[in-house]
Amino acid sequence: MATYSEEEIRAFGLVKEALPKHVAVIMDGNGRWAKAKKLSRSAGHRAGVDRLRGIIRLSSDLGITSLTLYAFSTENWKRPSDEVGTLMALLIEYFTKEIDELFSNNVRIRIIGAYEEFAPTVRNVIERAMKRTEQNTGLNLNIALNYGSRAEILRAANLAMKQVVAEGKDEILAEMLESYFYTSGQPEVDLVIRTSGEQRISNFLLYQISYAEFLFPEEYWPDFTDEAYLSALRVYQSRSRRFGGLEENA
Ligand code: IPE
Ligand code: IPE
Ligand code: MG
Repeated sequence: MATYSEEEIRAFGLVKEALPKHVAVIMDGNGRWAKAKKLSRSAGHRAGVDRLRGIIRLSSDLGITSLTLYAFSTENWKRPSDEVGTLMALLIEYFTKEIDELFSNNVRIRIIGAYEEFAPTVRNVIERAMKRTEQNTGLNLNIALNYGSRAEILRAANLAMKQVVAEGKDEILAEMLESYFYTSGQPEVDLVIRTSGEQRISNFLLYQISYAEFLFPEEYWPDFTDEAYLSALRVYQSRSRRFGGLEENA
């Protein structure tokens, strides 16, 4: 739980108070990384998993509040069943191997998405990881699994509707809707990074990214190093966010 001091953060060319609170990453390009190296797509996904440790550790040490990682979308079921199987096996392996280190780094794991639809073997490790880290107070690590933003919004709308009906009211308020999102209670997304050069959102956090900054680095996810992440954070800090208003010193 060694959070960097302000000076250490400055040595990276970053300013502590201006760091994003919530970073969301679309970890794309495992398949193309593998293809370029004449490896199997499975090898690409494995290399992708190997990048998690560095990015999570750095986010945690920098004192970022939330890191949301897109690991499996509601649309990824369209892939061949052997690839889906590989991804599930990697997931089980990841949680089994990494849980102790995540726990000791005070990381709190939350799964966002309809993970209850996964097979019991997958569900069990996921639920164990969430339970084990429930009391941790450091980085909120949201792993998006069987996640789709449209499904999340619809789910929240239905739950909010039930609440409204139960309370005999006739209007859904914004805070009520937001309270049913998987990310409820966490800061809005400040920065979205999608690796591999693709410039699209692919059904990720549509509501939560309303005022986020976007970065589309060219590296495939397995090549997205800690240095590339730091460099993305530096670009983020150079952006001027106006939220519909005017520049502060304009
Ligand atoms: C991202 O890499 C990982 C998942 C979607 C699970 P891809 O598998 O989408 O890699 P590309 O886009 O085919 O290169
Ligand atoms: C988005 O990547 C989902 C994840 C990274 C988990 P995809 O590779 O599935 O997205 P598309 O198909 O290129 O839009
Ligand atoms: Mg892809």
